[in-house]
Amino acid sequence: MRELFLTGATGRLGRTVQREFSKEWNIHPCSGSGGEDLTATEPSDIVPEQIDFVLNCAAVSSRGGCIKDSVTAFRLNTLWPQKLASFCAETNRRLVHISTDLVYAGGIPPYTEKSPAVPRSLYGWTKLLGDIAVQRRNPNACIVRTSILVGEAGAKMTTFSEDILSGRATHFHVDCFRNHTDINALARFLSHCLYSSRSGLILAAAPYAMSRAAYAYSLLQRDINLIHAPHDIPHDLTLRPSEVIE
Ligand SMILES: NC(=O)c1ccc[n+]([C@@H]2O[C@H](COP(=O)([O-])OP(=O)(O)OC[C@H]3O[C@@H](n4cnc5c(N)ncnc54)[C@H](OP(=O)(O)O)[C@@H]3O)[C@@H](O)[C@H]2O)c1
Repeated sequence: MRELFLTGATGRLGRTVQREFSKEWNIHPCSGSGGEDLTATEPSDIVPEQIDFVLNCAAVSSRGGCIKDSVTAFRLNTLWPQKLASFCAETNRRLVHISTDLVYAGGIPPYTEKSPAVPRSLYGWTKLLGDIAVQRRNPNACIVRTSILVGEAGAKMTTFSEDILSGRATHFHVDCFRNHTDINALARFLSHCLYSSRSGLILAAAPYAMSRAAYAYSLLQRDINLIHAPHDIPHDLTLRPSEVIE
């Protein structure tokens, strides 16, 4: 079995990866609640010797979370990936790092790997700077940029579809378009990605975008409360993914 160091193991994607990878990978999970604070750790102190593969899913993953604690957000979303990328390059370990469509401004879709990224939120900026640092420090690393994740994750933070089905989300933006991407299918793609020798940025997401309202309607099949997205949320993040996840 291949040995994988997984950061963000208790998160939505981390939990899904653990389920999807359990047959083929020996996973060494790492998380904040597991006692490993990556904002105050060097990769060499935490990545076990036998590890060949590293999947970086740790993040302050919400716009609100980044505003609430911007120092932690910068340390985890930007500085940690930078340090991890250098460490993996120096020790010849395969690194896959996760990025977000929120690095784009939402005004000139569809977005591809070649599109300029100009975030509209602190979250987007911390993630974009992390992506750039990974690319510079470790050109062999792979950066998988995806869109809003949906599906059952069973983590502390919930996915958009979990919010809809549980009734936690009650009002839906009619004018915010994203490629709602199945979290299980993305996890399976990440496994292929770790095995492959692909490098650089890869847009991996559902094949088409729809509004958050349309997505909620498709799940609930009944009338829903419609609202407009505020100005600081990018309105159209339609991706043209080179890797279709479905
Ligand atoms: N969710 C989405 O819709 C979405 C969309 C696009 C891209 N992404 C990207 O996908 C990746 C995974 O996101 P996610 O949704 O799975 O995030 P998440 O559910 O918020 O999970 C974040 C993970 O990071 C860990 N973490 C937080 N602070 C930490 C610290 N100081 N030290 C160590 N670990 C820490 C958390 O551990 P504890 O909770 O145990 O502390 C948790 O395991 C991120 O890069 C995110 O930007 C997510």
